[in-house]
Amino acid sequence: MSSLPPLDGLDVAGRTVLVRADLNVPLTRGVVADDFRIRASLPTITSLRSRGARVVVCSHLGRPEGVDLRLSMGPVAARLAELGGFDVVKTDSVAGEDAVSAVRTSGDAVIVLENTRFEPGETLNDTDLAAAMSRLADAFVLDAFGSAHRAHASTVGVTAHLPSAAGLLLEAEMDAFASLLANPGNPYVVVLGGAKVSDKLTMMEHLLPKVDLMLVGGGMCFSLLAARGYEVGSSLVEESSLDQLESLLASEVGGKIVLPEDVVVVEALTEDAPSMTVSASDMPENCLGVDIGPMTVARFGAVIEEAASVFWNGPMGVFEWAAFRAGTAEIAAAAARCSGFTVVGGGDSVAAVRLFGLERKMSHISSGGGAGLKMLEGRELPGIVALREWMNDA
Ligand code: 3PG
Repeated sequence: MSSLPPLDGLDVAGRTVLVRADLNVPLTRGVVADDFRIRASLPTITSLRSRGARVVVCSHLGRPEGVDLRLSMGPVAARLAELGGFDVVKTDSVAGEDAVSAVRTSGDAVIVLENTRFEPGETLNDTDLAAAMSRLADAFVLDAFGSAHRAHASTVGVTAHLPSAAGLLLEAEMDAFASLLANPGNPYVVVLGGAKVSDKLTMMEHLLPKVDLMLVGGGMCFSLLAARGYEVGSSLVEESSLDQLESLLASEVGGKIVLPEDVVVVEALTEDAPSMTVSASDMPENCLGVDIGPMTVARFGAVIEEAASVFWNGPMGVFEWAAFRAGTAEIAAAAARCSGFTVVGGGDSVAAVRLFGLERKMSHISSGGGAGLKMLEGRELPGIVALREWMNDA
């Protein structure tokens, strides 16, 4: 267990509970395009309601600079009502008069506050905003694992004002990452992909001594192949990370990094571009990589299937386009076949696993991207620190 103040430790019957969830979901033309995070937030909300609490939910949505009605919580509130099977009232403010009166008059409905980032004080962890939000409720539950790495008013500030606890999703996430950090079974295999190597460098440095193998595909592998001195054509390379990557590859633990042997390349990045498979150590100058090749798929797949612990973050290629999806699909299938402890994190890899209908085959699908990476960098998340401080002071 994660040693956080537990949800069932809060006295909630007949009280109002403010739940900070991470309902930062993609919208397409004003409609929720992927409701995974909303579904993941339901157990805490329904558990509180079944114990007689009135629930007020808050979250950020996107990165608005001030009020931007394209990022209103309206569509999220509507989807929450559909999924939860309860009435939902969305307020127009984060802590204003309408929010206060909604709490007073909403009866059995769940209240969803407007996007917390419409308030400039949110990202500044402003004390007045935190105090105003806390006046809406008698207790606070942090369930937003995906935002727990942000020291904001709604993730950290409110704990100074209210009896606080961890939500069920947050507990499950912390337990999954604690297993990967503290006592992973061996072989421990980390699979990394996605576009940007710079986002994952610190995590790679921290994890390499602990893992048996780190398999790297996706856009980020081309920076590593370039750092190894290979021709990568016009593939995405982060020049500013090359020196650090060279040192990492040459370090004592660098041998644990496994790069693709073959890759699928195209001349132009379009959905129907003709592609070919080439050696990853000598790509044609005019081509860029869009997926890992079949030899790499077979090698990565065999390693993943035999692992006792797997953490996967980032697709192996441009999986959004069917023509360049094979690598990501096969890696997902291998993780699904693995009988060890498998954790998938990061928006794109989670979306891929769901696209292939394999989410039930994984031990844990994380609702956090950046937060999971911070955990694996060995950092404390501010939201978690605030909850622990509340518990210690209580
Ligand atoms: C995420 O999508 O990773 C979380 O909701 C955090 O969003 P942020 O990076 O905008 O803080």
